Amino acid sequence: MIKIKHCNKSFHTKKSQHEAKYHALKNINLEIKRGEFVILLGSSGCGKTTLLNIIGGFEGFDSGEISIDSEVFHKQTNPKDCIKIFQDFALLPWRNALDNIAFGLQSKGFSLKESRGKAREYLKLVHLESLSHSFPINLSGGQKQRIALARGLCVKPKILLLDEPFSALDNFTRISLQNELLRISKELKTTMIFVTHDIEEAIFLGDRVIIMKPNPGQIVADIEIKIDKSDRNSLEFLGLKRKIAQYLEDYRFDLEYVI
Ligand SMILES: Nc1ncnc2c1ncn2[C@@H]1O[C@H](COP(=O)(O)OP(=O)(O)O)[C@@H](O)[C@H]1O
Ligand SMILES: [Mg+2]
Repeated sequence: MIKIKHCNKSFHTKKSQHEAKYHALKNINLEIKRGEFVILLGSSGCGKTTLLNIIGGFEGFDSGEISIDSEVFHKQTNPKDCIKIFQDFALLPWRNALDNIAFGLQSKGFSLKESRGKAREYLKLVHLESLSHSFPINLSGGQKQRIALARGLCVKPKILLLDEPFSALDNFTRISLQNELLRISKELKTTMIFVTHDIEEAIFLGDRVIIMKPNPGQIVADIEIKIDKSDRNSLEFLGLKRKIAQYLEDYRFDLEYVI
């Protein structure tokens, strides 16, 4: 369970010779249950990455309190078993697919043999058994992201943070990875915090969609997604898409994401 209470974060920026302060996150309050799939949705610059980094302990915060599994943190978290997946895959070019996954385990202290054994299981989980000896340069974007996902998951994190992991992929690959991720999250029951600016992706993946606005970064809505997701063109799905788009419009988001 993650509990964020009255969390604030400012960045110091230099405008000409004067120090300026930018309020990136203002009074963030959010509770995430174990195993929940939570989406942070909002336009560019509303603080999604900053919030994700604060939860993962990659970035400090100025005030407020964050507790993760009843451990309380001020200024900076240090969660155990928390992994972040990046948009640009961050694979090691000199390691093949299997050894890229094994890398995650080796860095946790497993031997190469043990790591490869477990890595094979996760290669299977993302349906890439046949490409175990391929190097990143010979893999497509979707395949690379599957490897990155497997590498993150193989250490069995309690919390997986995903920062727009599919946004560099074409639409077909993206939909197939969304399906995979949903299946995997149900199978492994990992807590997922997923950043996106895509409304359809948010509804399809999330148990909950947290809508944020910029200047300063704030949460403006917290929507539980209870609809049947099997048909992205169902009236329910499209209705929810419209409702969320309306929120974004109300808070004057960049309109490029609005249907
Ligand atoms: N290291 C930093 N230094 C100064 N400003 C930053 C830094 N990181 C983020 N910001 C600012 O904070 C705001 C939120 O950024 P970010 O969390 O990256 O937003 P998002 O992920 O929603 O696009 C933006 O206005 C951004 O310019
Ligand atoms: Mg971002």
